Amino acid sequence: MKYDNTEYWTGIHKKHKGHLQAVGHPTLCKRLNELKYQSEGNTMLDSVRGICREFRLMGKKKLSILDVGAGTGYWSKMVYDAFDKERFQVRATALDLSLDALDIVRRHSQHIDTVQEDLKTINPDLFARGFDLVISCYCLHHLVNLEDFLNALRFVAKSVSIDGFLIIMDPILTLPFSKFDVIDFPSYQGNGIPRHLYLIEDVLAKEGLCKRAIRPAVSFLLNGNIEGYDWFSYTAASTLWKALCMFIYKSDPLARLLSGVLLPLDKTLKDFYMAFSSSVCVYRKSMSKTL
Ligand SMILES: C[S@@+](CC[C@H](N)C(=O)[O-])C[C@H]1O[C@@H](n2cnc3c(N)ncnc32)[C@H](O)[C@@H]1O
Repeated sequence: MKYDNTEYWTGIHKKHKGHLQAVGHPTLCKRLNELKYQSEGNTMLDSVRGICREFRLMGKKKLSILDVGAGTGYWSKMVYDAFDKERFQVRATALDLSLDALDIVRRHSQHIDTVQEDLKTINPDLFARGFDLVISCYCLHHLVNLEDFLNALRFVAKSVSIDGFLIIMDPILTLPFSKFDVIDFPSYQGNGIPRHLYLIEDVLAKEGLCKRAIRPAVSFLLNGNIEGYDWFSYTAASTLWKALCMFIYKSDPLARLLSGVLLPLDKTLKDFYMAFSSSVCVYRKSMSKTL
Protein backbone atom coordinates (compact mmCIF):
# COMPACT_ATOMS: atom_id res chain seq x y z
CA MET A 1 0.00 0.00 0.00
CA LYS A 2 1.23 3.50 -0.88
CA TYR A 3 2.46 5.60 2.08
CA ASP A 4 0.14 8.40 3.18
CA ASN A 5 2.18 10.86 5.28
CA THR A 6 -0.68 12.20 7.44
CA GLU A 7 -2.39 8.86 8.02
CA TYR A 8 0.89 7.07 8.82
CA TRP A 9 2.12 9.54 11.44
CA THR A 10 -1.15 10.23 13.19
CA GLY A 11 -1.70 6.44 13.30
CA ILE A 12 1.72 5.44 14.58
CA HIS A 13 1.70 8.04 17.37
CA LYS A 14 -1.70 6.72 18.47
CA LYS A 15 -0.51 3.10 18.35
CA HIS A 16 2.83 3.51 20.19
CA LYS A 17 1.81 6.47 22.34
CA GLY A 18 4.95 7.98 23.90
CA HIS A 19 7.22 5.00 23.18
CA LEU A 20 10.45 5.19 21.20
CA GLN A 21 8.95 2.78 18.64
CA ALA A 22 6.63 5.63 17.51
CA VAL A 23 9.60 7.72 16.40
CA GLY A 24 12.33 5.12 15.92
CA HIS A 25 12.04 1.62 14.43
CA PRO A 26 8.41 0.55 15.11
CA THR A 27 8.97 -3.15 14.42
CA LEU A 28 12.20 -3.54 16.43
CA CYS A 29 12.66 -3.85 20.20
CA LYS A 30 12.88 -1.01 22.71
CA ARG A 31 16.55 -1.67 23.54
CA LEU A 32 17.63 -1.35 19.88
CA ASN A 33 15.79 1.99 19.71
CA GLU A 34 17.48 3.13 22.92
CA LEU A 35 20.92 2.22 21.52
CA LYS A 36 20.16 4.09 18.28
CA TYR A 37 19.09 7.23 20.16
CA GLN A 38 22.11 6.95 22.47
CA SER A 39 24.53 6.92 19.54
CA GLU A 40 22.71 9.80 17.81
CA GLY A 41 22.55 11.70 21.09
CA ASN A 42 26.35 11.66 21.39
CA THR A 43 26.71 13.20 17.92
CA MET A 44 23.92 15.71 18.55
CA LEU A 45 25.56 16.87 21.80
CA ASP A 46 28.94 17.31 20.03
CA SER A 47 27.20 19.61 17.54
CA VAL A 48 25.27 21.48 20.23
CA ARG A 49 28.48 22.11 22.22
CA GLY A 50 30.06 23.78 19.16
CA ILE A 51 27.00 25.99 18.64
CA CYS A 52 26.91 26.82 22.33
CA ARG A 53 30.50 28.14 22.12
CA GLU A 54 29.59 30.32 19.12
CA PHE A 55 26.50 31.79 20.82
CA ARG A 56 28.60 32.54 23.88
CA LEU A 57 31.21 34.34 21.74
CA MET A 58 28.36 36.44 20.30
CA GLY A 59 27.39 37.39 23.85
CA LYS A 60 23.97 35.75 23.56
CA LYS A 61 22.12 35.00 26.79
CA LYS A 62 18.61 34.29 25.48
CA LEU A 63 17.92 31.60 22.90
CA SER A 64 14.91 30.48 20.90
CA ILE A 65 14.86 26.89 19.62
CA LEU A 66 12.44 25.28 17.15
CA ASP A 67 12.26 21.49 16.75
CA VAL A 68 10.57 20.62 13.43
CA GLY A 69 8.91 17.20 13.31
CA ALA A 70 9.60 16.95 17.03
CA GLY A 71 7.61 13.77 17.66
CA THR A 72 7.46 13.15 21.40
CA GLY A 73 10.17 15.75 22.04
CA TYR A 74 13.25 13.60 22.61
CA TRP A 75 15.56 16.08 20.86
CA SER A 76 13.66 19.22 21.93
CA LYS A 77 14.26 18.20 25.54
CA MET A 78 17.89 17.13 25.05
CA VAL A 79 18.83 20.38 23.28
CA TYR A 80 16.81 22.52 25.73
CA ASP A 81 18.56 20.85 28.69
CA ALA A 82 22.00 21.24 27.09
CA PHE A 83 21.61 25.03 26.70
CA ASP A 84 19.80 25.40 30.02
CA LYS A 85 22.74 23.69 31.74
CA GLU A 86 25.03 26.28 30.14
CA ARG A 87 22.84 28.99 31.74
CA PHE A 88 21.17 30.25 28.57
CA GLN A 89 17.62 31.50 28.97
CA VAL A 90 15.86 29.15 26.55
CA ARG A 91 12.46 29.32 24.81
CA ALA A 92 11.78 26.05 22.97
CA THR A 93 8.99 25.16 20.55
CA ALA A 94 8.14 21.70 19.25
CA LEU A 95 6.26 21.43 15.93
CA ASP A 96 4.60 18.27 14.68
CA LEU A 97 1.66 16.98 12.68
CA SER A 98 0.48 14.66 15.44
CA LEU A 99 -1.56 16.01 18.35
CA ASP A 100 -0.89 12.78 20.27
CA ALA A 101 2.86 13.35 19.98
CA LEU A 102 2.57 17.00 21.06
CA ASP A 103 0.44 15.94 24.00
CA ILE A 104 3.38 13.79 25.21
CA VAL A 105 5.79 16.73 24.74
CA ARG A 106 3.56 18.96 26.90
CA ARG A 107 3.20 16.28 29.57
CA HIS A 108 6.94 15.54 29.82
CA SER A 109 8.35 19.05 29.39
CA GLN A 110 6.08 21.86 30.59
CA HIS A 111 8.60 24.51 29.48
CA ILE A 112 8.38 23.50 25.79
CA ASP A 113 5.67 25.19 23.66
CA THR A 114 3.94 23.11 21.00
CA VAL A 115 2.61 23.93 17.53
CA GLN A 116 0.57 21.61 15.35
CA GLU A 117 1.32 22.18 11.68
CA ASP A 118 1.57 20.09 8.53
CA LEU A 119 4.90 20.64 6.79
CA LYS A 120 3.35 19.69 3.46
CA THR A 121 1.20 22.80 3.48
CA ILE A 122 2.85 25.11 6.03
CA ASN A 123 3.60 28.67 4.91
CA PRO A 124 7.42 28.62 4.61
CA ASP A 125 7.50 32.20 5.98
CA LEU A 126 5.36 31.43 9.05
CA PHE A 127 8.30 31.86 11.47
CA ALA A 128 10.66 33.76 9.14
CA ARG A 129 14.00 34.37 10.92
CA GLY A 130 12.20 33.62 14.18
CA PHE A 131 14.57 31.14 15.88
CA ASP A 132 18.25 31.19 16.87
CA LEU A 133 18.46 27.44 16.47
CA VAL A 134 16.25 25.21 14.34
CA ILE A 135 16.61 21.44 14.55
CA SER A 136 14.88 18.79 12.48
CA CYS A 137 15.59 15.15 13.24
CA TYR A 138 14.39 12.20 11.17
CA CYS A 139 11.47 14.18 9.76
CA LEU A 140 12.29 15.67 6.35
CA HIS A 141 12.96 12.37 4.58
CA HIS A 142 9.46 11.24 5.55
CA LEU A 143 8.09 13.79 3.08
CA VAL A 144 8.44 11.49 0.10
CA ASN A 145 6.70 13.79 -2.35
CA LEU A 146 9.30 16.24 -3.67
CA GLU A 147 7.07 19.35 -3.46
CA ASP A 148 6.20 18.53 0.16
CA PHE A 149 9.86 17.96 1.00
CA LEU A 150 10.93 21.27 -0.58
CA ASN A 151 8.16 23.16 1.23
CA ALA A 152 9.30 21.67 4.55
CA LEU A 153 12.99 22.31 3.87
CA ARG A 154 12.32 25.95 2.92
CA PHE A 155 10.22 26.41 6.07
CA VAL A 156 13.04 24.98 8.19
CA ALA A 157 15.66 27.19 6.48
CA LYS A 158 13.59 30.39 6.59
CA SER A 159 12.83 29.96 10.29
CA VAL A 160 16.53 30.43 11.21
CA SER A 161 17.50 33.94 12.35
CA ILE A 162 20.52 35.80 10.93
CA ASP A 163 23.65 34.35 12.61
CA GLY A 164 21.48 31.46 13.80
CA PHE A 165 22.09 27.74 13.31
CA LEU A 166 20.30 24.82 11.71
CA ILE A 167 20.83 21.16 12.61
CA ILE A 168 19.40 18.49 10.33
CA MET A 169 19.68 14.87 11.46
CA ASP A 170 18.39 12.61 8.72
CA PRO A 171 19.35 9.87 6.30
CA ILE A 172 21.11 11.98 3.66
CA LEU A 173 23.08 10.63 0.69
CA THR A 174 26.74 11.64 0.79
CA LEU A 175 28.57 8.66 -0.77
CA PRO A 176 28.90 7.31 -4.34
CA PHE A 177 26.63 4.22 -4.02
CA SER A 178 22.99 3.91 -2.94
CA LYS A 179 20.10 1.73 -4.03
CA PHE A 180 17.84 4.73 -3.31
CA ASP A 181 19.20 6.27 -6.51
CA VAL A 182 17.23 3.79 -8.57
CA ILE A 183 13.91 3.36 -6.79
CA ASP A 184 10.85 3.17 -9.03
CA PHE A 185 8.95 6.14 -7.60
CA PRO A 186 5.42 5.29 -8.91
CA SER A 187 5.47 1.87 -7.19
CA TYR A 188 7.54 2.93 -4.13
CA GLN A 189 5.79 2.11 -0.84
CA GLY A 190 8.41 3.19 1.72
CA ASN A 191 7.71 5.88 4.32
CA GLY A 192 10.91 7.82 3.60
CA ILE A 193 13.36 8.78 0.86
CA PRO A 194 16.93 9.86 1.61
CA ARG A 195 17.82 12.91 -0.54
CA HIS A 196 21.26 13.91 -1.77
CA LEU A 197 23.25 16.39 0.29
CA TYR A 198 23.87 18.58 -2.77
CA LEU A 199 20.12 18.98 -3.34
CA ILE A 200 19.51 19.97 0.28
CA GLU A 201 22.44 22.38 0.26
CA ASP A 202 21.30 23.99 -3.00
CA VAL A 203 18.00 24.93 -1.29
CA LEU A 204 19.69 25.95 1.98
CA ALA A 205 22.28 28.15 0.24
CA LYS A 206 19.48 30.22 -1.31
CA GLU A 207 18.31 30.96 2.24
CA GLY A 208 21.82 32.02 3.31
CA LEU A 209 22.77 28.81 5.12
CA CYS A 210 26.36 27.56 4.86
CA LYS A 211 27.59 24.19 6.09
CA ARG A 212 29.66 24.26 9.27
CA ALA A 213 29.97 20.53 9.98
CA ILE A 214 28.71 17.13 8.96
CA ARG A 215 29.06 14.05 11.18
CA PRO A 216 27.77 10.48 11.06
CA ALA A 217 24.80 10.35 13.45
CA VAL A 218 24.72 6.59 13.92
CA SER A 219 26.10 3.58 12.07
CA PHE A 220 24.34 0.96 9.97
CA LEU A 221 24.73 -1.45 12.93
CA LEU A 222 22.03 0.42 14.86
CA ASN A 223 19.99 2.07 12.09
CA GLY A 224 20.54 0.23 8.80
CA ASN A 225 22.42 1.66 5.84
CA ILE A 226 21.30 3.95 3.04
CA GLU A 227 24.58 4.11 1.14
CA GLY A 228 28.11 2.77 0.74
CA TYR A 229 31.35 3.59 -1.04
CA ASP A 230 30.46 0.94 -3.66
CA TRP A 231 28.17 -2.06 -4.26
CA PHE A 232 30.32 -4.28 -2.02
CA SER A 233 30.33 -2.03 1.08
CA TYR A 234 26.60 -1.28 0.58
CA THR A 235 25.68 -4.97 0.34
CA ALA A 236 27.92 -6.04 3.25
CA ALA A 237 26.39 -3.40 5.56
CA SER A 238 22.86 -4.16 4.43
CA THR A 239 23.30 -7.94 4.91
CA LEU A 240 24.67 -7.45 8.43
CA TRP A 241 21.80 -5.09 9.38
CA LYS A 242 19.18 -7.54 8.05
CA ALA A 243 20.77 -10.40 10.01
CA LEU A 244 20.81 -8.31 13.21
CA CYS A 245 17.14 -7.41 12.69
CA MET A 246 16.20 -11.04 12.12
CA PHE A 247 18.17 -12.65 14.98
CA ILE A 248 18.82 -9.97 17.62
CA TYR A 249 16.78 -6.78 17.35
CA LYS A 250 13.36 -8.36 17.83
CA SER A 251 14.32 -9.30 21.39
CA ASP A 252 15.04 -6.85 24.22
CA PRO A 253 17.14 -9.35 26.26
CA LEU A 254 19.33 -10.22 23.24
CA ALA A 255 19.83 -6.56 22.28
CA ARG A 256 20.64 -5.77 25.91
CA LEU A 257 23.13 -8.65 26.07
CA LEU A 258 25.00 -7.33 23.00
CA SER A 259 24.85 -3.60 23.94
CA GLY A 260 28.41 -3.68 25.31
CA VAL A 261 29.73 -4.79 21.91
CA LEU A 262 27.34 -2.88 19.65
CA LEU A 263 27.96 0.61 21.05
CA PRO A 264 31.79 0.58 20.76
CA LEU A 265 31.54 -0.97 17.27
CA ASP A 266 29.03 1.68 16.24
CA LYS A 267 31.40 4.41 17.50
CA THR A 268 34.35 2.91 15.60
CA LEU A 269 32.34 2.80 12.36
CA LYS A 270 31.37 6.46 12.87
CA ASP A 271 34.96 7.48 13.66
CA PHE A 272 36.25 5.79 10.49
CA TYR A 273 33.49 7.15 8.20
CA MET A 274 32.09 3.67 7.57
CA ALA A 275 28.72 4.39 9.22
CA PHE A 276 26.74 4.48 5.93
CA SER A 277 23.60 5.68 7.74
CA SER A 278 22.19 9.06 8.87
CA SER A 279 24.13 12.31 9.30
CA VAL A 280 24.04 15.32 11.58
CA CYS A 281 24.51 18.43 9.41
CA VAL A 282 25.12 21.85 10.95
CA TYR A 283 24.52 25.11 9.03
CA ARG A 284 24.79 28.78 9.90
CA LYS A 285 22.84 31.63 8.35
CA SER A 286 24.93 34.60 7.31
CA MET A 287 23.58 38.07 6.62
CA SER A 288 25.25 38.61 3.24
CA LYS A 289 23.71 35.58 1.50
CA THR A 290 20.14 36.50 2.43
CA LEU A 291 20.26 40.08 1.09
C1 LIG B 1 10.71 9.53 12.80
S1 LIG B 1 9.74 10.66 13.67
C2 LIG B 1 10.99 11.64 14.45
C3 LIG B 1 10.52 12.37 15.65
C4 LIG B 1 11.62 13.10 16.44
N1 LIG B 1 12.21 14.15 15.67
C5 LIG B 1 12.67 12.11 16.84
O1 LIG B 1 13.70 11.99 16.15
O2 LIG B 1 12.47 11.45 17.86
C6 LIG B 1 9.14 11.79 12.43
C7 LIG B 1 8.25 12.87 12.98
O3 LIG B 1 7.90 13.77 11.94
C8 LIG B 1 6.53 14.09 12.04
N2 LIG B 1 6.01 14.41 10.72
C9 LIG B 1 5.96 13.59 9.65
N3 LIG B 1 5.35 14.22 8.62
C10 LIG B 1 5.03 15.46 9.06
C11 LIG B 1 4.37 16.56 8.46
N4 LIG B 1 3.90 16.50 7.24
N5 LIG B 1 4.23 17.69 9.19
C12 LIG B 1 4.68 17.77 10.48
N6 LIG B 1 5.30 16.75 11.10
C13 LIG B 1 5.47 15.60 10.40
C14 LIG B 1 5.89 12.82 12.59
O4 LIG B 1 4.64 13.03 13.21
C15 LIG B 1 6.95 12.32 13.54
O5 LIG B 1 6.73 12.77 14.84
